[in-house]
Order: sequence, then C-alpha cells, then structure tokens
Amino acid sequence: SGASEFVVVANRLPVDLETLPDGSTRWKRSPGGLVTALEPILRGKSGAWVGWPGVADTDLGPIVEDGIELHPVRLSAKEVADYYEGFSNATLWPLYHDVIVKPVYDRTWWDAYVEVNRRFAEATSKAAAHGATVWIQDYQLQLVPKMLRMLRPDLTIGFFLHIPFPPVELFMQMPWRTEIVEGLLGADLIGFHLPGGAQNFLYLARRLAGQPTSRGNVGVRSKLGVVQVGFRNVRVGAFPISIDSGKLDELARTKSVRDRAKQLRKELGNPQRIMLGVDRLDYTKGIDVRLNAIRELLEEGRIDPAENIMVQLATPSRERVESYVQMRGDIEKQVGRINGEFGQVGRPVVHYLHRAIPREELTAFFVAADVMLVTPLRDGMNLVAKEYVACRTDLGGALVLSEFTGAAAELRQAYLTNPHDLEDVKDSMVEALTQDREAGRRRMRGLRRQVLAHDVDRWAKSFLSALARDSVAGAALL
Ligand code: G6P
Repeated sequence: SGASEFVVVANRLPVDLETLPDGSTRWKRSPGGLVTALEPILRGKSGAWVGWPGVADTDLGPIVEDGIELHPVRLSAKEVADYYEGFSNATLWPLYHDVIVKPVYDRTWWDAYVEVNRRFAEATSKAAAHGATVWIQDYQLQLVPKMLRMLRPDLTIGFFLHIPFPPVELFMQMPWRTEIVEGLLGADLIGFHLPGGAQNFLYLARRLAGQPTSRGNVGVRSKLGVVQVGFRNVRVGAFPISIDSGKLDELARTKSVRDRAKQLRKELGNPQRIMLGVDRLDYTKGIDVRLNAIRELLEEGRIDPAENIMVQLATPSRERVESYVQMRGDIEKQVGRINGEFGQVGRPVVHYLHRAIPREELTAFFVAADVMLVTPLRDGMNLVAKEYVACRTDLGGALVLSEFTGAAAELRQAYLTNPHDLEDVKDSMVEALTQDREAGRRRMRGLRRQVLAHDVDRWAKSFLSALARDSVAGAALL
C-alpha cells in the first residue's frame, strides 16, 4: 500500500495538462464546480489526488503540484471517446439530468467504463496508506467504491455525487442499473446534494435488492439513511456543496477587482443594467432559455436595448460530444439573431465570449453585474449562483435562479423561476431589473448570510465527520 492517509479520487485532476502551439506543455486549472470545491480542502490536508490529466495517452508518474500529490491515470484516445465522452457524458450525464437530451446506451461504452473504473481503483489502492480514508467523486467513477473495497478492505471509503441523482423511473432505463447501484454500495457513506437524491437512491437500492445479476444477489435491506449490504452498513445522506465564500468575499473587496468592475462597465458602454450569465457551455444550463427570454422582452418592448445589455461567458466543454456541438451552434445563432435585430454598430445587446475566464476577471464581472441569470433546466447544485452572492459585498445586484438547481433549496431569497415557463422567466428578469434598491439589499443580505455561513469547508467537514463515525482511520483525519 501507498503513503497517503487521505486520497481524493476524481475523473479529472485539479489541473489539466495543456499543450501549447510550440508543443511544450503546462498545467492549467480544470473546469467545473467539482475542482473549485475540492481543491482548497485537499491543500489543507496534504493528501493525494488520483485523476486523469485531461489529455489522452499521457504517461506521467506522480507529481507534486501546489502542495498536492497528483497521481495521473492514463486514458487511451479510445477510452476518452468511450468512457469519458461516451458513457460518462452521453449516457450518464443526460440520464441523470432528467434526459434533457436522449441518453445513448452502448455496450462498448459500458465496457470501457468498467475497465477505466478498475484502473482508477487500482491506482487508488497503490496511493492509499493502510487504513486510509478515500473520497471518490462523481458519476464517472460509480463502480470504484466496490472495486476498491475488494482490493482494499482496510480503507474507509466515501462517495459523493456532484450531479443530481435521477428519479427512479428514469434511472431504471439504465441497462447496467444493478451494477451501478452495487458499485456505489461499496462505499461506507454515499453523499448527494439534496435529500431528494438520497431518497431516490435508497428507494432504488431497495427495489434492486435481490435481483439476480451475473455476479449474484445484492442482498440489500434498507431503512431510512442506511442500506445493509451483508454485514456492512452503508449510510446515505444529503450534503449540499458550497464555495470558499470567505476568500471570494475578500477578493471581491480588493481595489484591483473593484477598479476592473468599473472599467468593465465603461467598456460595455455604461448601460443602465448589465445582465450576466456564467456557465460551462452545457445544454443543462438553460443558456437558450435566458436568450429566448431576452429576445422576447426586446420584441415586446419591455426592455430597452440601449439601456439593458447581457454578457454571456461560456466555458468550452466536452467539445467533441455531438449534443454539445449542436447546442453551441444553436446558442451562437441565437446571439447573432438578437444582435442582428436589436444591436447597433459598436453596441451589441448580447456580448458573448466562448473561453475560460481567469478567476479575478470573473470576480470583476460578478461585481459589475446588476442581474445574474442562472437558469438551468437541471443542475445538481450550481456554484456560480453562490459565487455571485459571495461577490456582492455591497449588497447590490439581483439573482434570478432556476428552481431546478440544488442551490434553489438554500437561496430562497433569489428571484426563483421555472425555466420551462418562459413567461415566468421573463417576469422574474423584469422584476430583478427593476427591483427597489432597499428590497434588493434585503434579499442580498439574506442570501449572503446563507452563503457565508455554509462554505465548502463546512461541507467537507460534515461529509468527512459523518464518514469518520464508526471509523478510527477517518476520525484521525479530522
Ligand atoms: C461538472 C461535473 C464534474 C466535471 C465538471 C467539468 O461539474 O460534476 O465532474 O468535472 O462538470 O466537466 P468535464 O467533463 O470537463 O470534467
């Protein structure tokens, strides 16, 4: 066994290996909420991180980057296509997000998923010290808990799902549903964002119990919060993730960020109101919903294109997956259409950037934005909503937030909206754009109280202390 007492396992390392035009390579921060949330925790614990460096066919030994020991897992180009782009992001991702696009069920992809999960389990087994605590992350690695337990019964194993866990009727579509539930049940504690996800899983574990599979029976008895698998108790709970709110609050107060926010406003032509969207370019995010809403509001003359502009920052994501290619085309067409109809030369209504934005610049956008638009059709949590709130140290701004995000369960004082109801989205946007200053400040104060009190550190501690209960190794970690 290895040397690390605490090991995080995730599909991606916290950094991506990037190849520059001259053929040289450098490390770049990985996209998405998972890395944003976990990186500060691991840094504090001097643990190890097992993950994929983001490019196919790279052989790398363990490296230490920013105080974290990284253990790269190699994926071949075919595995990237079948396990990552295929099973993870064209089967599981759409299935778990309410089948917004149709999931593809492909036996070859499944085989690759099993194979890659096994490789992650083996790499983790090598990195973890005897009796160590291992924390496995997200939908790409749902078979790892069971595989790892078979290799290393001495470990304490936690699993956390960062995306929604779907309703039972949808999950039952999955041809390999029993294997996935069994895989997850290899953990000591399984965490979801919301009680609803935990309930869905408990119900499934019960329903699939005793169903014969190629490898025999699951043999599960479950009661609320606990599933009994043989002699083991697997606990199931809700742990809503968050951000490093204190640090972001601090960054938003710096002079350089404040100055940059003012300058951005000027560069955008000093409009009365700036609306902002910040997302990975993903069909779950409802970017099309907010663009449709803005177009109709402009057509109906309810907002003035000379006074109200929108900025959409879209981080490139999963660019070789078919549904992503198509959605990008649709969104860029919509942006062009709105600007074509309502923009002026040098004064577009929608400013659209398709690239990753550096942390500090992003913070300045949050500070500058009067109305933040977070309109996913489905989202496990949505950390962008929390980031916006953490940046509004001035109590300014307004958050329009989809009811279909995990964040909506906590951010009750946002302008909550149903993204499937376009009239409701439009009304929420107008309300947010025209809110009374004092009423707006009251809402933001309430939102900030929630986000500052429930930060990512609290999330990790509550998961890890639940994991450590009944576990000597886990307790030593805290
Ligand atoms: C979401 C998922 C993460 C994933 C991230 C970025 O936040 O929950 O597991 O890492 O998106 O997606 P990508 O496919 O680029 O890793």
